Amino acid sequence: MIEKEAVAIVTGAGSGIGRAAAIAFARAGARVAVIDIDHDAALETAARIRDTEAIALRVDVTVEEQVVEAFDTVLGRWGRIDHLFNNAGIRGGTDEAHRMSSVEFRRVMDLNVAGAFLCQREALKAMYEAQRGTIVNMASIMGFSTGPGAAHYTASKHAVIGLTKAAAFEAAPRGVRVNAVAPGTIETPMNVALAGNEKAMRDRYTPAYPIGRLGRPREVAEAVLWLAGSASSFVTGHTLVLDGGYLLR
Ligand SMILES: NC(=O)c1ccc[n+]([C@@H]2O[C@H](COP(=O)([O-])OP(=O)(O)OC[C@H]3O[C@@H](n4cnc5c(N)ncnc54)[C@H](O)[C@@H]3O)[C@@H](O)[C@H]2O)c1
Repeated sequence: MIEKEAVAIVTGAGSGIGRAAAIAFARAGARVAVIDIDHDAALETAARIRDTEAIALRVDVTVEEQVVEAFDTVLGRWGRIDHLFNNAGIRGGTDEAHRMSSVEFRRVMDLNVAGAFLCQREALKAMYEAQRGTIVNMASIMGFSTGPGAAHYTASKHAVIGLTKAAAFEAAPRGVRVNAVAPGTIETPMNVALAGNEKAMRDRYTPAYPIGRLGRPREVAEAVLWLAGSASSFVTGHTLVLDGGYLLR
């Protein structure tokens, strides 16, 4: 359960899973800060939130000053930060490890790991003050497995699981829980763009899923809300896999 009037920050909330989670937090009664590097997309998500308050903030989560300012803005406006869904991330290019440029490797690590670290850090500071709060980080099945052309993405998502465990260990005595979700392929604009169109996306990825279909943003959002809310009050340092059986193969 999410407390009414709780304040949730969702990064990468202008699209896909982040947008679905921002809307789900609002439906559960939370006020939501919609953070995205794409301001128009963030505004669109905020406009879809009608039941509670929402603000859209243009933030590049890899830029420290912007992250600090955004968390200050949320605290200034609502006085509390109860939940962070640390979701912004990219897949990056698909060159194999022996051809991957260091620039591309660092670009993915910078957003998926350092960006998540910065947002997690600012959330922890506010939550330690209040002696309460929850963080859900965005990992992936690539935090457990791998695939072709994914050295950067695989390394980054393994790192997110480590980031989650380290923070959870320190945060537990302070009343703060930190967990992660690890989805398989979800039907989002990112994957439609990668494959070309929706049919191509399903044809390409579905055979790897014993459940016979891909995941939906709403299904990830439900898991995020469970990990963020009081129903999971004894769960911390955990990475919840949502993969339709992908890792069973
Ligand atoms: N879609 C999947 O199949 C899948 C599976 C497992 C994990 N994930 C992870 O879920 C997260 C969201 O994926 P999605 O498919 O919803 O992606 P998406 O591309 O639909 O949305 C990502 C959002 O992040 C924003 N963003 C990009 N760089 C940013 C930055 N520097 N600062 C702030 N915002 C930034 C984008 O503008 C976009 O709105 C990612 O971390 C991804 O690795 C996705």
